[in-house]
Amino acid sequence: MEALRSAIEDARSRYVSANPQSQAADKNAERYLPGGNTRSVLYYEPFPLTVASGNGAELTDLDGHTYVDFVGEYSAALFGHSNEIIKSAIHEALDNGVAMGAPTQYERELARLLCERFPSLDQVRFCNTGTEANLMALSTARVVTGRNKLLAFNDGYHGGVIKFLGGRCALNVPFDFVLADYNDIDGAASLIDEVGDELAAVIVEPILGAGGNIQGNRTFLETLRQKTRDVGALLIFDEVKTARLGPSGVQGMIDVKPDLTTLGKFIGGGLPTGAFGGSAEVMAQFNPKIAGALAHAGTFNNNVCSMAAGCAALSKVYTPQLATEFLESSEAFRLSLNEMFATKEVPMYANGLGSMIAIHFSREPTKRPSDITAGCQSLRPLLHMELLLDGMLVCRRGDLFLSLPMDDEQLSKARGTLEQFADRYKPLIEDVLAA
Ligand SMILES: Cc1ncc(COP(=O)(O)O)c(C=O)c1O
Repeated sequence: MEALRSAIEDARSRYVSANPQSQAADKNAERYLPGGNTRSVLYYEPFPLTVASGNGAELTDLDGHTYVDFVGEYSAALFGHSNEIIKSAIHEALDNGVAMGAPTQYERELARLLCERFPSLDQVRFCNTGTEANLMALSTARVVTGRNKLLAFNDGYHGGVIKFLGGRCALNVPFDFVLADYNDIDGAASLIDEVGDELAAVIVEPILGAGGNIQGNRTFLETLRQKTRDVGALLIFDEVKTARLGPSGVQGMIDVKPDLTTLGKFIGGGLPTGAFGGSAEVMAQFNPKIAGALAHAGTFNNNVCSMAAGCAALSKVYTPQLATEFLESSEAFRLSLNEMFATKEVPMYANGLGSMIAIHFSREPTKRPSDITAGCQSLRPLLHMELLLDGMLVCRRGDLFLSLPMDDEQLSKARGTLEQFADRYKPLIEDVLAA
């Protein structure tokens, strides 16, 4: 649509004028990085901002603009960028030496903290990313069941080589996946029945993150639990993002206990890590004191900086009580956005739960990925650019992640920015959605 194209062009040209240093840095980076980029999700047109520093809930770019950071490292930056408690835990670990090549007390403490928090975890193992955690969980399920087939969901995201956003991805690992639709209870149940005794596992995000922050329907998740049990397959909850919701993630809110859970993002206090775990029986497969155990390798599985940061983050900062309070306050913020959109009768909706939000162009909550219209998708670049131009750093697909250091002033400014966007573009949004 011409009006939308020209609104996006206009916003981009204001962005280009405001960010000469970022533009030059992006151009220079093209020499040694393809397109100047080493992480696809961080690219957007006309070029991404280059960030120079972060402090609390704010980031500053090369041109000296300061933004409230709602990208929040796609949920990993729960603690912001300079939490003193986490920083001093990292410094202490550094002072005592890195790259130890031996067990340390840090990973034991972090394992205890995680197992005491997440109902499905008797034991865990660490790795370096959420992707790796999911690869390990899926591989474990294949070994434990002696089966090959895996069931995942369209528009699910489990890592750079296990993603189904808009279909299968060319870089995906060649595992034997069958795909069902998220929140389609009958469809998923009958596919599980169909695959039956060939099915090793079902992997699911209890809230579909990259696919639009769509809450998993409770009956849907309960059905997956029951059906996997019926056919002897494992149920894997990918809580890499959702573990931050409340003291023990989505599994702590509903009465569904997966066989395996995967974690990542915030559990390393902002440093790289991942974990997978489950019942003592399944995890015993990795016990090196038992003959024939599975060997799970990884040079940096127990790297001391991530382990120390994770211990401090979970024991001293994001205590179960703070996690409960943060879920409540961030959910109140999300609901306040929806109240504002409804009052203005603008077709915008803050989907998700608590601190995991995605702005959709719709009057209703998005319950399935197929509810996301082409019009909604085409409006995202405009929203993204306009929010950046007003000092609100958000993901290019309209995700907002709240972080602990965000204060009321920053949150109300963000609400004001969204309100201004809604006022300015309501007629255009309505036209685009009607087209
Ligand atoms: C639900 C989910 N699983 C897994 C991953 C992969 O984690 P990582 O990027 O640490 O490999 C992500 C990353 O965004 C995610 O959102």
